[in-house]
Amino acid sequence: MSLKQTSAPTERDARVLELYEQLLEIEQRLIPTGLHIFGRPGSMHERTDLLKTIASFDRPEVGARALPDLIAEGLGVGSYPRRIGQTSLSEAQLTERETVDRLVDTAVRVFVETNSESAAAFLKDQAAVKVEQSLPVFKFLEQISRELKVNNELESLVRALRGEFIEPGPGADIVQNPNVLPTGRNTHAINPYSVPSTVAFARGEIVANCLLERFKSENGRYPETMALVLWGLDNIKTQGEGVAQALWLLGVRPVTDSLNRITSVAPIPLEALGRPRIDVVMTVSGIFRDLFSPTVQLLDKAVRLVANLDEPFDKNFIRKHVSEQVSNDACNFDEAAIRVFSNAPGSYGTNVNFMVTDSQWDRDETLGDLFVTRKCFAYGRDGQGRPIEGREAGVAMDRALARVEATYQNIDTFEIGLTDVDHYFEYLGGISKAVEKRAQAKPSIYLSDSLSRDIKIRSLEETVQLETRAKTLNPKWYEGMLNHGFRGVAEIENHVTNTFGWSATADAVDDWVYSEVAKTFVFDESMLDRLRDLNPHSAHGLVQRLLEASARGYWDVEQSVLDQLREIARSLEDQLEGVA
Ligand code: BEZ
Ligand code: MG
Repeated sequence: MSLKQTSAPTERDARVLELYEQLLEIEQRLIPTGLHIFGRPGSMHERTDLLKTIASFDRPEVGARALPDLIAEGLGVGSYPRRIGQTSLSEAQLTERETVDRLVDTAVRVFVETNSESAAAFLKDQAAVKVEQSLPVFKFLEQISRELKVNNELESLVRALRGEFIEPGPGADIVQNPNVLPTGRNTHAINPYSVPSTVAFARGEIVANCLLERFKSENGRYPETMALVLWGLDNIKTQGEGVAQALWLLGVRPVTDSLNRITSVAPIPLEALGRPRIDVVMTVSGIFRDLFSPTVQLLDKAVRLVANLDEPFDKNFIRKHVSEQVSNDACNFDEAAIRVFSNAPGSYGTNVNFMVTDSQWDRDETLGDLFVTRKCFAYGRDGQGRPIEGREAGVAMDRALARVEATYQNIDTFEIGLTDVDHYFEYLGGISKAVEKRAQAKPSIYLSDSLSRDIKIRSLEETVQLETRAKTLNPKWYEGMLNHGFRGVAEIENHVTNTFGWSATADAVDDWVYSEVAKTFVFDESMLDRLRDLNPHSAHGLVQRLLEASARGYWDVEQSVLDQLREIARSLEDQLEGVA
C-alpha cells in the first residue's frame, strides 16, 4: 500500500487505518513459535499465549464469559469490537480494541505469575470488572494451566507399547475444547449423528453469509455453484462447522429423529433464507468418508431434497442445474444430482501434493486431472434409496466442476495453516485447478478464518500473504523453528514448498514472496550459514525450490539473482557430496 503525499487527509487516514488493521491482524494471529516436542510441556510463554486465546471465548459450561467482553463492558465501551465479514473497524473501535487486548494480556500475565485472585483484583482496579465475573474465568484457566504443565505422552506411549489401556479423550482444537487436556491420551471422534451441533449450525450461518457476501461484492451476484472441501478431523474439532456451512449454502436445516439423531434435513423457506439456494459440489476426504458415513448420507439427501423443491430456477440453482442436465445430457435425475465425491473405497488423498513436491508434472492442468482421478467416486443414495458407496463417477464430477465459480475451505484450527502442511494445496488447490480446466475459467478461491472471535473470509491470495507475513518471513516464527535445529530448517523448507504448491495449483503467490524468501534465507550470509550448518539438505532443497519457481514461471526475477542462487545451490551440493 502506498501513501501518496497528494491524498486528501481523510483518504490518507483511511489507508493508514487499513494498514494498521492489517498489522494488528498479523500481530494477533496466534503463531506457533516452535514445534511440539513429544513428552515435553510447552514453555511458560506458550502457555500464556494459549491461555489468553482460551479466555477470549465464552465458556458457559463453567459459567465463565469471554474476558474481552467483560473488560469492554467494565470500561463502558459496550461489547468488544469484532470484525464480521468485510466490515472494517473505525479508528475509535480499533483504539478500544487495543485497550481491551492490552488489559487481557496483562491480566493473563498477572494470573500466570501470581494467581486468580490477583488477576481478578487487577481487572477490578483497571477495568471495573466485577470479581465475581472474572474469577470464574481465571478458575477455569487454573485448571487448564495445571493440565498444560502435565504431560503423559511418553508414559502413555510406553504403556501403549506394553498393550495397556490408554484412557481416551476428545480429539479437538485445544482452544475450542480444552477438554483435550491432558495430552497423551487416545483421541476419540464424535458421534456423527450429532453433526452439525447447534453451535456449529449457528456459526455456519454467519460464515456462509460472509462467504456469499464476499463473492457478491466482487461479482455483483451470488455464485450459482461452489465447490467445498470437507475434512474429517476439522469437522470433529468443530462438531461439524464445515457440514453446517454446506447445509446453509443449500438452504436446509438439520432435523433429528425420535432417537435424537440428525438423520434428515428440512428446507429453510426462501423468504427466510433471503437469497437463492447455492449448488454445492462437495469433495470429502477419505477420513471424512470413513468417520462421517451418516453425514455423507445427510449431505446427499440434502442435495436431492433441494433439487426436488418446486421453486423458480433463479432461486434454486441446484434444481436449475439438475433439470438442465436431465434435459440436455439425456441423464437421469439420480445421476444429475450427484454432489458428494471422495476417493475410491479404502483409498485416501489426492496425490497432488506428492506430484508437486517431487516436481513430477509438466503442465499445470495435470494436477487438476490427478485430483479428479483420485476423487471422482460418488457417495450417497440414488433416487430409489439404493446406496452408492464409492461408485466411479468421473463424468458426473467433470460436469459438476464445469459449473463451479468459487471454491472454498473452512480453516478452523489455531495450529495449522495454509503453508504448514501440503494438504491444503493438494485439496483446495487441486480442486481449483480441476475447475479451471473444466469451467474454462479460474474460480474465485476463498478460505474462512473462523478461528478467532472475528469471522472473516479471505481470498486465497490474501491468505497466502497473511501466512507468509505471520509465519515464513516472521523472525518470531523462523527463529522459533531454528531453535529446533535440523528439524526446524526442514520446517522452513516445507513452508517454502507448500507456498510453491499454491503457485502450482492456483498461481496465488506474488513475486515478492519468493524474493523475500530468497533475501531472508539465502542472500543473508549469516542466515545461510546457520541453515547449512544445521541442515544442508533442506537448505539445498529451499534454494532448488526457488530456482524451480522461476523455471516454471511462478517467479519473475532478474537473471543476476538466478545466477547467484545457482552458484549457492552448487556450493551446497558440493557440501552435501563432501567435496567442499
Ligand atoms: C482429514 O481430517 O480429513 C484430513 C486430514 C489430513 C489431510 C487430509 C484430510
Ligand atoms: Mg506470479
